[in-house]
Amino acid sequence: MATARGGFSSRLGFILAAAGSAVGLGNIWGFPTQTASNGGAAFVLVYLILAFSLAYPAFMAELLIGRYGQANAVTSLQKMSRKAWQKKFAFVVGFGGIICAALILSFYGIIAGWMMSYAIEPAAQLVGLQQIADWVITQSNIRNLIFTALFMFLTVFIIRKGVEDGIEKWSKRLMPLLIGLLIILIVYVMTLDGALEGLQAYLNPDLRRVFHPDLLVSALGQAFFSLSLGTSVMVIYGSYISKKENLVSLGAQVTLIDVSIAFLAGLLIIPAMYVAQHQGVAIFAADGSLIAGPSMVFTVLPALFDGMGAMGLFVGFAFFVLMSVAALTSSISMLEGPVSYAVERHDMQREKATTLISIIIFFISVFIIFNLDFMLDFVAMLATEYGQPIIAMLCCVFVGWIWSRKEILDEIKQGNEQVEHSFFWKIWPWYTKFVCPVAIATVFIHSL
Ligand code: PFF
Repeated sequence: MATARGGFSSRLGFILAAAGSAVGLGNIWGFPTQTASNGGAAFVLVYLILAFSLAYPAFMAELLIGRYGQANAVTSLQKMSRKAWQKKFAFVVGFGGIICAALILSFYGIIAGWMMSYAIEPAAQLVGLQQIADWVITQSNIRNLIFTALFMFLTVFIIRKGVEDGIEKWSKRLMPLLIGLLIILIVYVMTLDGALEGLQAYLNPDLRRVFHPDLLVSALGQAFFSLSLGTSVMVIYGSYISKKENLVSLGAQVTLIDVSIAFLAGLLIIPAMYVAQHQGVAIFAADGSLIAGPSMVFTVLPALFDGMGAMGLFVGFAFFVLMSVAALTSSISMLEGPVSYAVERHDMQREKATTLISIIIFFISVFIIFNLDFMLDFVAMLATEYGQPIIAMLCCVFVGWIWSRKEILDEIKQGNEQVEHSFFWKIWPWYTKFVCPVAIATVFIHSL
């Protein structure tokens, strides 16, 4: 371990863990669903622009706060504060992020539970347990409760082991497999009827839609959700990075991996939607809206795998297992935010904090499950479209307005002596100070 409080053992360890947090349901469920509900390619275009122009700079701010503070989000932000009001403000921002992470986990666990149940379905079919296969993919409260609980249990199991053994080890192995499988599936989908129409919808934007307020807010929320921003997670991950590492390039690599995987997932799922529609599966309503809403991916992908015959059972199983793992490397990061806060600020034991916090989060999940129709969308919107961008914006305000240029430079220079002469340094400090907060605020004002 790099420090007494735990840390990533290597540069690769951080990249994989941070990319593990970033890459998850947001990329393979959230991004395609948002793309499909927001007019296809126009959304993709806005998303890509916002991911690099706003999310990456904000991501850098969070990493920097964490590495400087070497502690949970609240303590790190308070270390940067000089005046009493700044310390209070630091508490609001840091704690707000922790609440956001907890809220996200409460609905994320439900969808990750669906991923697990869709992995069990083909496995049950393969061993001849048809009844179980049917049951696991039928929406019911009891199914949702069981699989959400199972997913939370796995998350807790990993988190209790701490940074290096838990988070790092798991993130290292399975992501390359997921990317490989995505690419193979994209190639396969392109050979099917209807795929080209999907490709067109994915890649050819209707520019008139680009400035639609709903699209802007959704794309902004999706970009911040995908990079796990505004949740204290990247602050705490930043605090585990050694002072010898170059933050600017680490952040850029993680952003690139995250955006590329979302883009790949869209390249699979949007054409697969059109293929399914072509085969008579109802995907769009007459007005062009999505019929299945948040469960669209769970209609489209099984239809695709069904079309592969017996082979489809293996592919479906592998895909949903890998998705569940991708969801786990994200959920453990969500739990790490609140847990590190409880351990460092309230002197709780790591095991105890993990169990207690996960039980509270699970209760929120239960409440959502029993009110699935509106609560899932509501909590997701509250936490991802509003909470995350606002908290991330406040982190930018902290770095830009409460810190001096010299303080930023001192921290960022560690592990990156050349940074002072770089393009990044010429742009980023004032960009974080003025452009990020104003741009994020403008999107919200526009949406009102
Ligand atoms: N970035 C994750 C994904 O795209 O699935 C979701 C996420 C992880 C959001 C961690 C927030 C968070 F704190």
